[in-house]
Amino acid sequence: MEKQRCLAGKTAIVTGASSGIGQATAATLARAGAAVVIHARRKDRLDKVAGEIAAQGGKALAVPGDSGVQADIDRLLEKTLSWNDGGGKYDIVVINAGRGLAGGILNSDESQWQDLYQINVLGAARLMRRAAQYMVQRKSGDIVALGSVAGRNISPFSGFYGSSKFAIGALAEALRREVCPHGVRVSLAMPGVVASEFQTVAGYNEENFGKAVAQFGKIFEPQTIADAIHWLLTLPPHVNVNEIMIRPTGQTFP
Ligand SMILES: NC(=O)c1ccc[n+]([C@@H]2O[C@H](COP(=O)([O-])OP(=O)(O)OC[C@H]3O[C@@H](n4cnc5c(N)ncnc54)[C@H](OP(=O)(O)O)[C@@H]3O)[C@@H](O)[C@H]2O)c1
Repeated sequence: MEKQRCLAGKTAIVTGASSGIGQATAATLARAGAAVVIHARRKDRLDKVAGEIAAQGGKALAVPGDSGVQADIDRLLEKTLSWNDGGGKYDIVVINAGRGLAGGILNSDESQWQDLYQINVLGAARLMRRAAQYMVQRKSGDIVALGSVAGRNISPFSGFYGSSKFAIGALAEALRREVCPHGVRVSLAMPGVVASEFQTVAGYNEENFGKAVAQFGKIFEPQTIADAIHWLLTLPPHVNVNEIMIRPTGQTFP
């Protein structure tokens, strides 16, 4: 386990933890001593991630479900609150589940627009709301939402996706203003290009992605973002880094 168990005694929910940034974040927070509750749709993948965390001496509870479905979010929170290893509470929620979509307003697949907003915006907002209500009562807690550089600098190559990340940025800041007087921190992490399953799900290929990204040099592994989230969460309680934008050094856009 990690040298500094600085999150010992904390319980963290991580959505979208069956791959990529969420998987790396769950493992990182567990190594830092947190009990982690992991959520995603693919149960087999989630069970594997939980098994790997347990094999390293960590505590993990896998709760499969769809982060865009209200009943599944409610079930995630109920299971968390009744999990003895997590102390029957939670301190941290990383709202990471999400998906991309290649193309702009003119040429992205319109049949996927609804699904993208369901998970990236509505599901995220619902989890934000419920977690914040709970944390305000407890007068402490951390909410970290995954935005994107494309949610601050709109790109014509991923315009519809980018719009959902602009929405998350607005929601996170609006929420921060509501809950900061109650001791609750809200942070928005905006990664640049990270190699994960994201590109396949979004429909990127060599033509619409690979050639542009090749110019950026070395791009990120999910662990880079997991380390940044770990840093946000381990600052002193009176310090809230509200936003962090983190790009590979050679990434010129978006
Ligand atoms: N990769 C990048 O370049 C990049 C850059 C900026 C921001 N981001 C953001 O970072 C977050 C994580 O992306 P990633 O790169 O780690 O992608 P990824 O490897 O594709 O992981 C996405 C995760 O979200 C889960 N997920 C997707 N739809 C879901 C749903 N409806 N319900 C529950 N879970 C769902 C997936 O699990 P299941 O399929 O098992 O449900 C998976 O665990 C996303 O919000 C993405 O927008 C990524």
